[in-house]
Amino acid sequence: MNLLSLAALLVSGCMCAAQYGQSLDDLPRIVDNTTASNAAEKYTLPPLPYEYDALEPHISSQIMKLHHTAHHQAYVDNLNRALADLAGTVGQWDMATKDKIEVLEETIHFNRGGHINHSLFWKGLAPAGSPESVPQGDLERAIVEKWGNADEFRAALSRTIIARVRGSGWGWVVCDVNTQKLSFATTRDQDPISLPQVVIFGIDMWEHAYYLQYYNNKQNYLKAIWAVLNWKEAGERYAACMKHSATSS
Ligand SMILES: [Fe+2]
Repeated sequence: MNLLSLAALLVSGCMCAAQYGQSLDDLPRIVDNTTASNAAEKYTLPPLPYEYDALEPHISSQIMKLHHTAHHQAYVDNLNRALADLAGTVGQWDMATKDKIEVLEETIHFNRGGHINHSLFWKGLAPAGSPESVPQGDLERAIVEKWGNADEFRAALSRTIIARVRGSGWGWVVCDVNTQKLSFATTRDQDPISLPQVVIFGIDMWEHAYYLQYYNNKQNYLKAIWAVLNWKEAGERYAACMKHSATSS
C-alpha cells in the first residue's frame, strides 16, 4: 500500500462496511458513543459489556482483566501512536520518511486489526446461562439448515480452527453479504475479516486468551467459549448481513 492509498484508507475508514459496525471508524460508535468518531481523534479502550468475572468459570476473571486492560489496551495505544507518527510525516518525501511510513503501515494494520477484532470479540460473549447465551432466531435456523444441529456446528468449527490456526490468530463464523451464506474463516495474527464477509462470531486463538486457564488445551478453551457466546449479538450481525440481501436485490 502506498502513501496515497494509505491516506485514502485513513479518510475512508478502510474497505470494510461501516454499515455493519465492523470498520475502524465505526468502532467507537458501536462500542462507546463518547469515544472518537473519526481517524483524526484518538481511539479508546471500549468498556466490557459485563464484569471481568462474568464469564467464570468458563473464562477466568484473571484472563479477562489482563486480556482487556493489557493486551487490547496495547493495541489501542500502539494504533494511536502510529497514527500520530504518520500524521507527523505529512509533507516529508525523503527516503528515510518512506521507510518510516512503511513500518507505520504495518504497525497500523496490525494494531487496527487488534482493536477491531477484540471489540467484536468482547461484544460476542455473554455470561453462561443468560438469555443471550442460548442459540436462537434466524441464525440458529440457518446453522441447523447447513450443519444439521448446533453440536455439529460447534464440532465443525472447532475442527476448522484447530487445523488452520497454527500460531496466533482468530477463528470466525462469517456471513457473505453477497451470497448470505454462513461459513468458517481463520486469519493470522490480527488480520481482520473484510468484505464481502462480515463477522458473526469471532474467537481469539492467541495464547493470551486461554493459556493461564487452559494451558495448551485449545479444545477445552473452545468448549468454554461455546458456553459464553452471545447469540443475541451474533443474531443481530446475521440480520445485518441478510438485510444487505434485501436492500441490494
Ligand atoms: Fe486477544
